[in-house]
This record gives sequence, structure tokens and C-alpha cells, in this order.
Amino acid sequence: MKVLVIGNGGREHALCWKLRQSPLLTELYCAPGNPGIAGVADCVPHGVEEVHELAGFAKEIGIDLTVVGPELPLTLGLVDEFEARGLRVFGPRKAAAELEGSKVFAKEFMARYGIPTADFEVTRTRAEAAKAAARFGLPVVLKADGLAAGKGVVVATCAEDVEVALELFFDERRFGVASDRVVIEQFLPGEEVSFIALADGERLLPFATARDYKRLLDDDRGPNTGGMGAHSPSGLLPSAQAAEVLERILKPTLAGLAAENRRFRGVLYAGLMLTAEGPKVLEFNVRFGDPEAQALLLRLEDDLLPLLAAGASGSFPVSRLHFRKEASAVVVLASSGYPERPVRGEAIEGLERAAAVPGAHVFHAGTARRDGEIVAIGGRVINVGATGPDLASALRTAYTAAAHISWPAKILRHDIGRDFVERAAATQETGSFNLRELRSHLGNEPRDS
Ligand code: AMP
Ligand code: GLY
Repeated sequence: MKVLVIGNGGREHALCWKLRQSPLLTELYCAPGNPGIAGVADCVPHGVEEVHELAGFAKEIGIDLTVVGPELPLTLGLVDEFEARGLRVFGPRKAAAELEGSKVFAKEFMARYGIPTADFEVTRTRAEAAKAAARFGLPVVLKADGLAAGKGVVVATCAEDVEVALELFFDERRFGVASDRVVIEQFLPGEEVSFIALADGERLLPFATARDYKRLLDDDRGPNTGGMGAHSPSGLLPSAQAAEVLERILKPTLAGLAAENRRFRGVLYAGLMLTAEGPKVLEFNVRFGDPEAQALLLRLEDDLLPLLAAGASGSFPVSRLHFRKEASAVVVLASSGYPERPVRGEAIEGLERAAAVPGAHVFHAGTARRDGEIVAIGGRVINVGATGPDLASALRTAYTAAAHISWPAKILRHDIGRDFVERAAATQETGSFNLRELRSHLGNEPRDS
């Protein structure tokens, strides 16, 4: 099969790395890709938002399956465009991608189907938003409706934060039309966990759990980022709670979307807060998380290619995914100034030495090749992943490999997985759910053993 992956981050590098291992693969392309991806795929110079050009390329080459990494092309209707031209894609159409593309849609959708989420109000003016924020008290969360590159959410802990957010959304118009409507919502205390599943429109294949570290600095300080590290298992979601997430959140979401003529095929990602009242949805994404995908794909045993191809056609061939018993960890290396204004253009050294560490994998994100050198051109630059018999050893390997990589502005978190390892040592528990135990909740016909 000829496969096209769309995107240029660590997530897409991991997708290409995994798809490259499939015996069914004949040719692999990635648009636009990056220098790391160029090692496993042919890079095609089209941006992720060039939906028509991408469809033209896929048609011309005779691509059998397209896999979409980021949300932007999905919300722009890439899948609709490809399908109209008879091309098979694993990803949701525009109408289903609204689940991520519009926070107002997602919140109102959850309200319609009784899917647990924070109480909220949709506001259209600064005065309305200020009134709603006052009603919820502090802390309170303010969210721009549309895509804002992960920067459209403000968790306000004091009145001044609320003022600054309102100014940003309504006066400065920093996010343009994305903040025409602003969701004001109740702050949920608890621990955050990602729950990711493949969906073929009707059925779900959950991944093992993963945890993402969103804050820039150690001990969860500093601004929110796209994610500074991840590990799998998450250590936070035992089987009983995972079953609850499936029954109360993912299954009703899939069924509700289908009922509203927004059938969902692709990656369904629920960002959850584990609260005293049970798991509640913070947000939905309609694609793999980055860097969670790197952690999950390092553990996935199954051949990803036939799964995605069958899912794109509406029928998974298996009833569950299989994961290696090993743990995986990913440490993100970023450039100082991230997420606001990362330093760009510095040459990176030590990539080969890092990749040579046994058990380590180097996935590129914001890199470019210039005059024979690899330079850092983005916020998140390199992901160093590793697997190991337990999380402590996976982390050790990832950090050992990460230490080989250097450029002047390199920054990283030093505490990825630390509290999990400490907790596991104290309780002897892995906290990881067993996918076999979840099977009875999936309702998938057991076509495999
Ligand atoms: P979102 O993009 O909606 O997931 O929000 C980004 C981050 O803001 C989340 O990962 C949480 O850390 C935080 N957050 C969002 N909504 C809430 C909420 N209702 N209560 C507490 N934290 C939240
Ligand atoms: N790591 C969070 C995300 O991909 O949205």
C-alpha cells in the first residue's frame, strides 16, 4: 500500500516510523515532513493546510491511505475533499472534527448527551463573560471557542488573570474570530489523563493509557505548552475507571455524533480530569496527542497500517489493540522562549549518539536541514523516547539519550514520570488497565483471540 502521512511533528515522525514497519507498506510519503521523517519517508513540500494540493498529489501518486496528524487540516475539511475524490483517509470529516474545532460545539454536544464535563456558559461579549466568570468564582477557566494553537485556554486563579484573559479575547482580539464566543467554565481540581481510541464510526479500539506533561517547567510550573513529555501507562487510570470512561464518555460521544450525522472515523482523544465525582471531559481532540502518540506507538504491538486502512473504510478487523508489557517514556527537548518566542536557527549536535543508546528513539519535531546541519527551527524540537521493562528504566534511557543532544537554547523538563515512579514504588501498583478486561465494555465482536 502507498501511504501518505500529513504533518511535520514528533507525532508524525512516530507514525511514519511505525507505518514503515508494516509488511503491507510499499511507499511512504509525508507532507511536509521534517529531516527526521525524511529518514523513513519521502517528504512532499505541501503544507498541512494545502488541502486541495494534497488531494491532487494523493490522486496523482495513487495513494491508498492517508493518515492525518494535526487538527487543522481536519477542521478545514481535508477528509471531505479526499473522499469526494475517491481517496481513503483515516480521520474525521469536517462536521465531526468540530468536536475539537469548536469548544462551544463540544460543550453543547456534551450537555445534549449527558457526558460529564465542567459546568459552563457560552458568552459573546466581555460583559457577559465577566458576569459568568463572577458567577463561577475563582479559580475559573476561560476558553476561546476556536483553534488557537493550544493558547486559547486560561485558567484564572485571581481577578487580574480574568481581566487579562477578557482583554486578550475581546479587546486585543489576539485569536481573531476564534474568540467571537468564549466558554466560561467551572474549574475542576484533580489529576489529568489522556484517553485515546481509534474509531471506525461505530466501534472503538482504546489505546493503553498515556499521560502528558503540559506545563513548561518542572513541578508543573510555568505556562501551558503542547506537551513537554509523556509516558505510557499513565499510572492514573485503573480498569474500573477506564470502563467508566468508555461507558459514560467515549461510547455516548461516538453514538451522539453518529445520530447527528457527524459519523466519527479517526482518533478520538478525550482529555480528562479525574475528579472526586468521577472522570470529566476537559476537551476532545480529533487526532493523536503529541507527545502521547510517540509514547503509545512505541508500545503498540499490532501492525498499525491494516488497522487504520480498515478503520477508514468503517470496519476494524480486530476487537482490541495489543501492547507490549513494557513501559514507554518521551522527553521533549524544546528551545528557550517556547511557547511564546522560541530561539531559532541553532545547530543541533549529538543526534546520532542519542539514537545509538539501546532502547532509545529520536523523533524530530521543529528541525530543518541547513548547509548539511540539523538546526532547531521550532518550539518543540526533538522528542527522545524509550521503552523499558518498567517506567523507571524507560525514563532512565530517555534521559540518558537526551543528554547526548545539545544546542545552546535547549530546554527540557527533568521530572517527567517522577511522581509516577515514586508512587508506584510506594504502592507496588502499576495503575494500568488491562485492555482484555475492557473488552466486555467495547461490544466489539471478538474476531480475534
Ligand atoms: P483544554 O485545551 O481545554 O484541554 O485546556 C488546556 C488545559 O487547561 C488542560 O489540559 C487543563 O490543564 C486546563 N483546564 C482546562 N479546562 C479546565 C477545567 N475546567 N478545570 C481545570 N483545568 C482545566
Ligand atoms: N499533548 C496534547 C495534545 O496533543 O493536544
